[in-house]
Amino acid sequence: MATSRTHEGRAVILQARGLTRRFGGVVAVDRVDFSVAEGEIFGVIGPNGAGKTTLMNLISGLDTPTAGALFFRGRPLAGLPPHRVARLGIARTFQIMRPFVGMTVRENVAIGARFGNPARVLSMPQALARADEVLAWVGMQHRADHEIGTLTTGERKRLELARALAAEPQLLLLDEVMSGLLPREASEMMALIRRINGQGVTVVLVEHVMRVVMTLCHRVLVLHHGKPITVGRPTEVAADPAVIGAYLGERYARRAAVPAGGAGSAGTPPDDAGGVGAPPGQAGGADAPRGDTGSAGALPGHAGGAGIPPGDAPSVGARPIDPLTDTERVGEGDAP
Ligand SMILES: Nc1ncnc2c1ncn2[C@@H]1O[C@H](COP(=O)(O)OP(=O)(O)OP(=O)(O)O)[C@@H](O)[C@H]1O
Ligand SMILES: [Mg+2]
Repeated sequence: MATSRTHEGRAVILQARGLTRRFGGVVAVDRVDFSVAEGEIFGVIGPNGAGKTTLMNLISGLDTPTAGALFFRGRPLAGLPPHRVARLGIARTFQIMRPFVGMTVRENVAIGARFGNPARVLSMPQALARADEVLAWVGMQHRADHEIGTLTTGERKRLELARALAAEPQLLLLDEVMSGLLPREASEMMALIRRINGQGVTVVLVEHVMRVVMTLCHRVLVLHHGKPITVGRPTEVAADPAVIGAYLGERYARRAAVPAGGAGSAGTPPDDAGGVGAPPGQAGGADAPRGDTGSAGALPGHAGGAGIPPGDAPSVGARPIDPLTDTERVGEGDAP
């Protein structure tokens, strides 16, 4: 039976034990152990090819472990197909986004609402109504009738999030949800993730942008060649020589040691091929809703208020999010 308590006495929502996934000779995930506490924002970092997306695929049922076990609230997950995992209350976004092209934003979110709902399959009118609630909550209601092809990268990322939220998850898996965002969009996305977590949703966040990891995560797991190097608070992890050697690099460590507005402001590790700057053709980002981060009420389908309060989160390394002053492109300028 899985351990029931971890991290400051909170209940375990997700646990991996000896989790392993081999692809031929490649061990993408290699005997990984971790526990995620209810209400946590749990980061997963590591170089390209470290096994982060494979880990998300294993949790969400898109892939099956070669060995080891996964538990959601003590219940075995491995081997369940994605729709069963979704019904348990686990939703995800994809590193490579998969919107239904040719459909509107509202219809895309409605599909998430219809089939991801843990209690029942919603009728289409119910799902569309739920989609409108979620779109309002994430600040995208003005785009509800637009076709997917008209969205900016930032809006597509927010749509991905809305689609996952429409399934009313208790556990939300985010795979590089910041990549391609402009600085202001990234700050808004961070604020949105905080709000989601504030509604009691546990978050597992795969991310290359260290500013995001340092600001948002309660704890971080570092993977390297599929193996777990360490798990700990962001500042502990960022100062760990093994993590600096495998991923962050000396340059990051030196910069992070300089207290310039918080230890977390040091930017992106050099091996960040995730590309957090603006993609070609989106330099201005003028279509994005300016300062519109959605409604302040409870997330549809959630009672709210069960996230780990900020006072319990590690304060070191956390930098207040200020979309107004956050004008430098995330990660850009930090690359060697
Ligand atoms: N379906 C697959 N078949 C074969 N090899 C795979 C498959 N999926 C992943 N791999 C390999 O597993 C390893 C881990 O890949 P994964 O995509 O999980 O890394 P990642 O940490 O998400 O990287 P990135 O930061 O670039 O997104 C890589 O060596 C990759 O080539
Ligand atoms: Mg990946």
